[in-house]
Amino acid sequence: MSPTQVAEPTTKSVSDPASGEAAPEPPMIELENLTKTYRVGVEEIHALTGISLTICRNEYVAVMGPSGSGKSTLMNILGCLDIPGGGVYRLNGHDVSRVSQSALARIRGEQIGFVFQTFELLPRATALKNVQLPLVYGGSRHRRQLATDALRRVGLADRMAHRPNELSGGQRQRVAIARALVRHPAILLADEPTGNLDTATGNEIMALFDSLHAAGQTIIVVTHEAEVAARCQRVIRLRDGYVESDTLNEAAGQHRDRA
Ligand SMILES: Nc1ncnc2c1ncn2[C@@H]1O[C@H](COP(=O)(O)OP(=O)(O)O)[C@@H](O)[C@H]1O
Ligand SMILES: [Mg+2]
Repeated sequence: MSPTQVAEPTTKSVSDPASGEAAPEPPMIELENLTKTYRVGVEEIHALTGISLTICRNEYVAVMGPSGSGKSTLMNILGCLDIPGGGVYRLNGHDVSRVSQSALARIRGEQIGFVFQTFELLPRATALKNVQLPLVYGGSRHRRQLATDALRRVGLADRMAHRPNELSGGQRQRVAIARALVRHPAILLADEPTGNLDTATGNEIMALFDSLHAAGQTIIVVTHEAEVAARCQRVIRLRDGYVESDTLNEAAGQHRDRA
C-alpha cells in the first residue's frame, strides 16, 4: 500500500459577520521557506534549510525523521518558543515570524499547548497546581475549575492532589497534557510524548490524542515510532532540515475530507 501525496489543502469557508458573505478561513499554519541557523562559536548549523508547509484546522500530523533532522527546531518555531532565521510563519493568518519576544510569549500562551518527552512538571506541585500554572487571568476559584476540567478531560479526576512522584509515567504525561490543554489552545504540539513511556502506556497516551483529535483538536506530534505515526492522518518526514516527504496516511482512523 503506497501512501498518497498530500493534495493542495482546501480552504474552508466561514461566514464573515461584517459582510454576511463567506470568507475563506486562513490555514492554521502556513510556512514559507522557513530557515533556522544556529551559531556555535564559528560554526553554523543549518537546522532548517527551507520548509514550506500548510497545516489546517483539526489535522493530526506526525513529524518524523532521523535525530538531528530539525524536528525539535521546527516544533519550537511552530510553538512560538523561537523565531525562524528566515522565511514566513503565519499562524491563523497572522505573520508571527518577526514579532517581539513579549508578543511571541502572548501568542504562545493563547494559541499553543506544548507536551514534552520529559513531562516538565514542577516536582513539588500537585497535579492541580501544575495544570493551573499557565492560567494567568481570573480568580483562584475560576482557575481551579478550569484546571479540574482539564484533568477530567485526560482521565485524572481522581489524582488531582498527587505530586508527580506519586504518579506513574503515563499519569505524569496526562498531567502535562492537561496543562497544555487548560487554555484551549488552537494547536497541541507534542515532541516525542511517548519517548519515555513503555509501549502500552505510550499507546494509552496516543489513544488520548486520538480522542482529542476526534473532538476537534489540531495535533502535531514528533515521533520516532512507526506505531505512533500510524495513528496520524498525515506524516511529514524531515531530513537535514528540509521536508523529505509529506504523505497522507490512508490507514489512519479518520481522514480529513480533502475532496
Ligand atoms: N540550541 C542549539 N544550538 C546549536 N545547535 C542546535 C541547537 N538546537 C539544535 N541544534 C542543532 O540543530 C540540528 C537540528 O536539531 P533538532 O531540531 O534538535 O533535531 P531533532 O529534534 O530532529 O533531533 C542538529 O544538528 C542540532 O545539533
Ligand atoms: Mg528533537
